[in-house]
Amino acid sequence: MNLPKQIQEIYRTAHCLYSKQDIEEALDTMAMAIHNELAELNPVLLTVLKGGLVLVGNLLPRLDFPLEIDNIHVTRYQGAVQGGELVWKIKPEVSLQDRVVLVLDDILDLGLTLAAVVGFCQAAGARKVYTGVLVDKKTSRDPAGLVSADFVAVSVEDRFIFGYGLDYKEYLRNAPGIYEVSPEIQATL
Ligand code: IMP
Ligand code: MG
Repeated sequence: MNLPKQIQEIYRTAHCLYSKQDIEEALDTMAMAIHNELAELNPVLLTVLKGGLVLVGNLLPRLDFPLEIDNIHVTRYQGAVQGGELVWKIKPEVSLQDRVVLVLDDILDLGLTLAAVVGFCQAAGARKVYTGVLVDKKTSRDPAGLVSADFVAVSVEDRFIFGYGLDYKEYLRNAPGIYEVSPEIQATL
C-alpha cells in the first residue's frame, strides 16, 4: 500500500477522542485563561512548528489584546535515541529580551521539547516564560522534561494521537479533531 492510501486507512480506522466542537469549546476556555493572565503584559506568542500551528491559528482570533507572534522550530535529531540532541531549524526573529513569552505547542509528552524551548527563551533574556499546549498526554515525563504546561486545552491517555496539528508520519495534521490511532496499528508503531 502506498503512503497516502495507508494514511486514509489510519484515518478510517482511528477512534475520535475529541470532536471539532469539543476542541473549539476547550479552546474558548483556554483563551479565557490566557486572557486573564496575559492581557496586560504585551506577550510574544511563540509557535513551536509544525505541531503548534493549528493551535495558534485557532487561538489567535480568540485573543483580543496586544500581542506579537513568532515561530520556533526544534526537532529531536533524527535517529537519536531518547533525550537525543535537538536540532534548531528556525529561531525567533523578534527579540525576547525582557519580554513575557507564551510558548505554544501541540502536545506535552516527555516534556523535552518544551523544556528546551523554555530554556532557549530564558537564555534570550525573556522576563517570564509561559507554556500552553493543545494536549497534555498523561505519561511519565522525562526527568529533564517540563512537568506541566500553564495552559492546556484537553488531555489524553498515553496513546498515539493525530489531528489539529499533530501528525502521523507527517500526515493528518489537518484532521478536524483529535484521533487515536487504532490499537492494532499502534502495536506495530
Ligand atoms: P516531548 O514532549 O519532547 O516528548 O515531545 C513532544 C513532541 O513529540 C510533540 O511536539 C510532537 O511533535 C511529538 N508527539 C508526542 N506524542 C505525539 C503523538 O501522540 N502524536 C503525534 N506527535 C506526538
Ligand atoms: Mg512537534
